Amino acid sequence: MFPPALLKGDELYEHEASAPYDASRDLSKYLLMHYGSLEDVFHQSGHPLAMAHGYCQRLSDLLRSCAQRTGTSVARALDVGCSVGGVTHALGAWVTDQVVGVDISRRSVEIAQALTHHGGGTFSVIEQGPFHREVSILVEPGDRARVAFEVGDANALRVGEQPFDAVVLSNVLDRVARPAACLEQFTGSTAILRTGGLLMVACPWSWYPEYSHPDEWLGSAATGTPSETALKALLAGHFDLVAEVDEPGVLRQNPREYDYFESHVTVWRKR
Ligand SMILES: C[S@@+](CC[C@H](N)C(=O)[O-])C[C@H]1O[C@@H](n2cnc3c(N)ncnc32)[C@H](O)[C@@H]1O
Repeated sequence: MFPPALLKGDELYEHEASAPYDASRDLSKYLLMHYGSLEDVFHQSGHPLAMAHGYCQRLSDLLRSCAQRTGTSVARALDVGCSVGGVTHALGAWVTDQVVGVDISRRSVEIAQALTHHGGGTFSVIEQGPFHREVSILVEPGDRARVAFEVGDANALRVGEQPFDAVVLSNVLDRVARPAACLEQFTGSTAILRTGGLLMVACPWSWYPEYSHPDEWLGSAATGTPSETALKALLAGHFDLVAEVDEPGVLRQNPREYDYFESHVTVWRKR
């Protein structure tokens, strides 16, 4: 069947006691953020949040420009906490061999796999209460690298036969149980990211007690240390900072409500 229905309208109204990140409404929002066109996301032209559209592509473009600037060849890349795979696919357009997306949410991974397998699909987005609308999306058939998705935990990443040349952590570090331990997988070892490889950390530093105990959060009010500074203290001993920017993004709740964020994005090269 083409295009496959990744998420049906009825599912948006189910009361789900599902695992975090498996809820249909959230997956619909991430599908729209990762793959929706400007017209799919905003009804009117010239919407004030239009500049926040295209977050996944902008992250990928930044990593690519950092790779070019530092002369880093990126044959294999890992997208940790990939959700439905927008960054993974954007990387697949220029990374040469393979991009792997890993997420703890089985349903996100299944949707990303179906989308990749069929080259596109349909899903529904909430318009208002009982009204929903179907959106069709395509993923680039011209992806250079093989794109694959798997279920995995950012705190216990699977070590493969060879390390990756680049790793992306987008909006996930403030969602994992042990953020510093997650980073140690890249600082304390070359098993997952090779020497000379690039690490991109994008995060709005939101922090939620339901995801990680406040003692685990990077940064501390007691010492007056913001998360940006704490991140740099953890990475600077093992990596050189290549780029630091703020990247806006937007998750659409409905045409009258949007969640705007600005991720702090740093790109690092492993010494
Ligand atoms: C805020 S979303 C960000 C998704 C995507 N990277 C982006 O930037 O749009 C957080 C994602 O991280 C995933 N996640 C949360 N904890 C995780 C963990 N321990 N291991 C892997 N993925 C995790 C969630 O399932 C969710 O898809």
